[in-house]
Amino acid sequence: MSNAKILPILINHNPILRKKSTQIRRDEIKTKEFQRLCSDMAKTMEEKDGAGLAAPQIGKNIRLVVVRTENSAVCMINPKIIKKSWAKECGEEGCLSVPDVFGKVKRHKKIICKYLDKKGKEIKIEAEGLMARVIQHEIDHLDGVLFIDKARDIKKLT
Ligand code: NI
Repeated sequence: MSNAKILPILINHNPILRKKSTQIRRDEIKTKEFQRLCSDMAKTMEEKDGAGLAAPQIGKNIRLVVVRTENSAVCMINPKIIKKSWAKECGEEGCLSVPDVFGKVKRHKKIICKYLDKKGKEIKIEAEGLMARVIQHEIDHLDGVLFIDKARDIKKLT
């Protein structure tokens, strides 16, 4: 993490943000390049003060996201929501790729998400509230979806 670098973030209307990202092969995970990418994305998220960051946002159409937890950044490889609550909740969102824009998005309150961690280990987590929202927002990026596609009461700060 010490020599991780800050990557440039793509901004809305870049076509990469609209492409469906591809699954990451298990044997790619342990490569130095991939491990570095995870560290660089974590550093970029922290530096830009984001709640999460998805690989398309830094120009790579692969199924990798990082999300912020209390004190660390968690890398999720090939994340997939395998269960979601019927109940939804509306909350304000923004996105590093859509600067100065905020809007309310309805998301599932609780989800169960499956992914591979940086070591290639399969993890299953239950998330609710803000964490569930961030994971849903980041997985949308992997499918070429931006929060502004779903948001209402969109506000632009000037
Ligand atoms: Ni975003």
